[in-house]
Parts: sequence; structure tokens; C-alpha cells
Amino acid sequence: MSEVHTRPVPTNFAANALISAEDYERMYRQSVDNPEAFWAQQAKDFLQWDRPFAQVLEEDMYKGHAAWFADGRLNVTVNCIDRHLTTRGEQTAILWEGDDPANSQAISYRILHEKVCRLANLMKSRGVKKGDRICLYMPMIPEAAYAMLACARIGAVHSVVFGGFSPTSLKDRILDSDCRLVITADEAVRGGKRVPLKANVDKALAECPNVHTAIVVKHTGTAVDWDSKRDIWYGDLIPQMEPDCPPEAMGAEDPLFILYTSGSTGKPKGVLHTTAGYLLMATMTFKYTFDYREGEVFWCTADVGWITGHSYIVYGPLCAGATSLMFEGVPTYPDASRFWQVVDKHQVNIFYTAPTAIRALMGAGDDFVKSTKRNSLRLLGTVGEPINPEAWEWYFSVVGDERCPIVDTWWQTETGAHMITPLPGAMPLKPGSATRPFFGVQPALLDSEGQEIIGEGEGSLVIKNSWPSMIRGVYGNRQRMLDTYFSSFPGYYFTGDGARRDGEGDYWITGRIDDVLNVSGHRLGTAEIESALVLHGDTAEAAVVGYPHDIKGQGIYAFVMLKSGCQPSDTLKCELIDLCSKEIGPIAKPDFIQWAPALPKTRSGKIMRRILRKIACNELDNLGDISTLADPSAVDALIDHRENC
Ligand code: WT7
Repeated sequence: MSEVHTRPVPTNFAANALISAEDYERMYRQSVDNPEAFWAQQAKDFLQWDRPFAQVLEEDMYKGHAAWFADGRLNVTVNCIDRHLTTRGEQTAILWEGDDPANSQAISYRILHEKVCRLANLMKSRGVKKGDRICLYMPMIPEAAYAMLACARIGAVHSVVFGGFSPTSLKDRILDSDCRLVITADEAVRGGKRVPLKANVDKALAECPNVHTAIVVKHTGTAVDWDSKRDIWYGDLIPQMEPDCPPEAMGAEDPLFILYTSGSTGKPKGVLHTTAGYLLMATMTFKYTFDYREGEVFWCTADVGWITGHSYIVYGPLCAGATSLMFEGVPTYPDASRFWQVVDKHQVNIFYTAPTAIRALMGAGDDFVKSTKRNSLRLLGTVGEPINPEAWEWYFSVVGDERCPIVDTWWQTETGAHMITPLPGAMPLKPGSATRPFFGVQPALLDSEGQEIIGEGEGSLVIKNSWPSMIRGVYGNRQRMLDTYFSSFPGYYFTGDGARRDGEGDYWITGRIDDVLNVSGHRLGTAEIESALVLHGDTAEAAVVGYPHDIKGQGIYAFVMLKSGCQPSDTLKCELIDLCSKEIGPIAKPDFIQWAPALPKTRSGKIMRRILRKIACNELDNLGDISTLADPSAVDALIDHRENC
């Protein structure tokens, strides 16, 4: 390991931080020594309850079971909107910045209340009831947040599908959770390019007979096909709806949303989050990790189609009464200065993005940053993948002018909120380390025998106890949740990540140790890409692995074995790449396809990915033990082919 340059928290920041080093030690101790008392107090401080809870926690990690504040009742939108109306009704809740720099819009908490209620009433008028699943396939426009909140208002469960996913992926997700209503828009716009959302919905719905309604927001105004029995225009009907809608009083453990994410096997899983615990932890981490202060503008650059957008564009910031900036575009349009221009335009105080974006902008050169002021910035954050120290240093010194601490937040779709992260002001920063666990979180590292590693060491990252925003289920498949997260190491939640703990107790995430890829912060299962590749008539078998990629973090490397008689060609490569894009979405396109005469397999027929990873990384002299292979010559053939590529 290269030498670590620990950075003290910038002094002006440390002096005023919300949580000092002593506060962290004291609160963390309390949170693990007496979790019930700690969390009960937080739940009272951070949330408004319709009916107070008496039970705090019920957990059985062996069964993957947790229930938090189970007998309490509350509504998420009362917490995110109504309770702010008396104190900050005119304050901007959502500050929207369009793809085109000429478009922006400020939505106050009062307007947000009205928009959410009207849409909730429109859904009710189409028969939606508490517990129904609603699919959102939306551009990054305020209506995406209205739609999420409108579901929460009436107790419907949203399932947001990222607008970059294909019609096939959309269809699979709609069917898996039996959504009956879809909310979408005519088109999305990103970096000046249009994405035909409504046309994609039309394709998906051709195979979803239960969907009775598609609510369509007119965004670009392009002409779209119309099924007059099913499709309704948002803009035509919203003005006719009542501007008020009573909030449904939800049980703390009632479902709030489903969000699909990739795992090491099979199709993506619908990760289920419930009401109170999720909202509490999203809000609390928002406040403490980002050291958020009244009146500040917070910008998380994620898409609402990912958990980051759920927790840190919508639920956390709004529950805390913040101003949340929502950006439709991309970092490099019209040019690589866009992020920093938006920071200056809207006087952003806290900025949260992904290492892949930082690396891409770093590559574009410092002038794009230096031409802007960025003097409103107070804190920077990263999420999604390990950040390399070089990118960290650039972010710290060039973007933040050495004034802003960086919080490197490790968490997952399944954890709902930050789990391991610096609290700025409480700990010195180490470029590349997510440092310490958040309150109440007890991480551990296990060796290959499942024994806990004490002190310094490296192993599988697990969590020993439940936390309020822990995954509550895989929609429709309890067994799959147990198998994926709670059976590798009984009694622990298994993250799928490896990590190292240094001599000072700080955590360094080393990346996924299962068959999950992290491409530009997007999570993809190797199995999903392989299934797409074998749909081609010429493919006999395919194996996909990740390899280090300068910008994306990981690139997709596919080994494809053709059926006998089929010839490799560039046209075939293009067809295979298109197939991945069509089946999953453009993010799943392989960066590299290598023709494989055979795949290295064990005698029991299991593909030895360890060897394929080495070949993909070009670590050819270090292949490890290949004696368990059924046919070791398969490896030589692959190496020869790599050299010919
Ligand atoms: C996986 C979860 C949760 C936000 C976005 C991704 C990786 C996430 C970090 C970080 C190193 C990170 C892990 C994790 N990851 N944050 N700060 N440092 N790795 O959510 O799609 O559920 O992916 O992203 O590998 O398991 P996700």
C-alpha cells in the first residue's frame, strides 16, 4: 500500500462542526451499548409521529429479521412536507436545474405540498390504495419527486426504475412486483440527448397486462403513441384534482418502497424498505454526515433511480427541511465546467457526487474548475465506489480549495443510508478510507473460516447487528433475502464487499468480493450480462468479469465462446454489445469482448472466474493454482487469444 497522507479536518470547519471527536466517541458508545435508548431518542428528535411507539427494536440476525418502532404510526410526507409548512412554507424545497442551463425552477415546501396532494388524488381516482405498487420511470424532473412522495402520501409503494434501463428491464421489474400503475414522461433529456421514456414504457407494457394506467408528464413535448384506455396526461388532470389529500397513517414497518438492484445471481432483486427506520436513518445521516445547517443548499448529483437519489435527493433532505438541488443533466454538458457553474449559480453549500464523475472531470483539466468561484462550498462528499487517493486529492485541493472536508460514504441499496463514513469535524480524513461506522453500526471483518478478525486486517465486511434502515426483504421472495445476505455468515449481514481495517481502526473498502460489478458507480450482476450474451444464436457460453478502468472504476470484460461453426467477427461483437444494451440498458455494454475457444472450468463444471479476472487484468504471470481445472490447456488458449486481440 502506498503511504497515506492523513488530512486533519480543516481548522475553520472543525471549530464549528455539529459533531466533534468527543461527541462521536460518546454517541457511538451509547448507540452500541444501549441501542434501544439511543434510537428511541433519535426517533423522537428527528421524526413526527401520529402515534408514538412503545417498542423500539426486535431483531434476529440469524433469520434476517428486524422491526423498528413497530407499534408507532407516521406518514413520511407529513415529515417531509406538512410539518415544515408553518416554519418554512415559502423556503425552496426542490431547486431544479435543467439539462439546458437556461432552465431552472424553485419549488417551495408549500407548492410541493400542493403538487404531491394533487398527484396523490389523481392516483386515488385511478383506484390506487395503500399497499399497491407503483412503477416510476422518470426523467430527473421535479415530478419524479412529486410521484415518490405522492405514493408515500397514500401508502402506495413506489418502485423507481432508472430511466437508463431498457424496456425489457422495465417490464421485468413491473411484473416482479405486480405494479398496476406507471408514471413516466414523454422523454428525458441528458446532455442534449433525448431518451424515449414513453416509447420504452409502451414496449414494456405490451407484456404487462395488469397495468391499467400510465400517467404521462409532458416534458419535451415530442409526439408519442397513445393508448386512450390506459394513458392519461398528467398536465391535463392535475389542475382538476383537489389540492389537499389526507395523509395515510402508516405503521412504522409498512413498506415505503422497492428498489431493484443487481446481485451475483439471477435477475435483480426488489430490495424492500419500510417507513420509520428508513426515514430516520436517511434524515439523521443527512444531518450528521453532511453537517447540514438550516438554510443551506444541498446537491446530490445522483439519479432518483438509485438509492442515493432516494435517500439524499428526496427523503433525507426534505425530512430535514433542507433545500435539495435536483439536476437533470450530466457533468460534461455543455462543458466540463457545468457542475461548478451550477454550484455558483445556486450557491450550493454541500456537494455529493461519485468518484467516476470526479475522475472524468479531473481528466478534462483544472481550467474548467478554476474558471468558477465555488466559494459557497463548505463540504464535499463521494459515494458509489472506492475513491482512489489521486482523485480524492484533486477533489480536495482543486474543487474544494483545501477548505472543504470530504466525506467518503460507504453504504448500499440494502443499507438505505450511510454506514461507514467520516463525520466531518469528528475525524481526520484519510484519502481512500471511509473511516468509521455511523452511530449504531457495528461492522466486522471475517476471515475465510467466518472468524472475526480483531484489530488490523482484511476480510469480508459484515454487519453484526440490525440498523433502522436495514433491508426488510426481497420483494416476493423471503428465501432469496436470507440466502443472499444472512446465510454466508450466520448471525451477520453480509455486504458482498471486502474491506481492510488499519491500525487506527479505520475501514478501507476494497470492493465487491462477489460476482457484482461496479461500473461508474452502477451495480451490475455478471450473471445478468451473461444471460444477455447467450441470447444470441451464435453464443454457446459467456463469462463476464470486471477489470480496472481509469474513469469507470470497473469496465466490463466478456469472454464469449461461440457455437461450433460460428465465426467471430466485428459485426458479431457489435450485435452482442447491442444485445446487452437492449436487454439491460446502455450501462451494461461490455467494454471488451474476447473470443474464447473454451472457458476454464473446475471438474464440477464451475467457471473459474478468478482466472478470467487475472486474464482480463493482464496479470498473466500470476494466475495462481490451475491444477483443479478440468482442462488446464483452456487457460493457455485464452492467453493466446488475448494477445491476438
Ligand atoms: C456498492 C453498493 C449506496 C450508494 C450507491 C451505490 C460500493 C458504495 C462506496 C464507497 C467504496 C462503495 C460497494 C457497495 N460502494 N459506496 N464510499 N467506497 N465502495 O449503491 O448500487 O447498492 O452499490 O457500492 O461495493 O457494496 P449500490
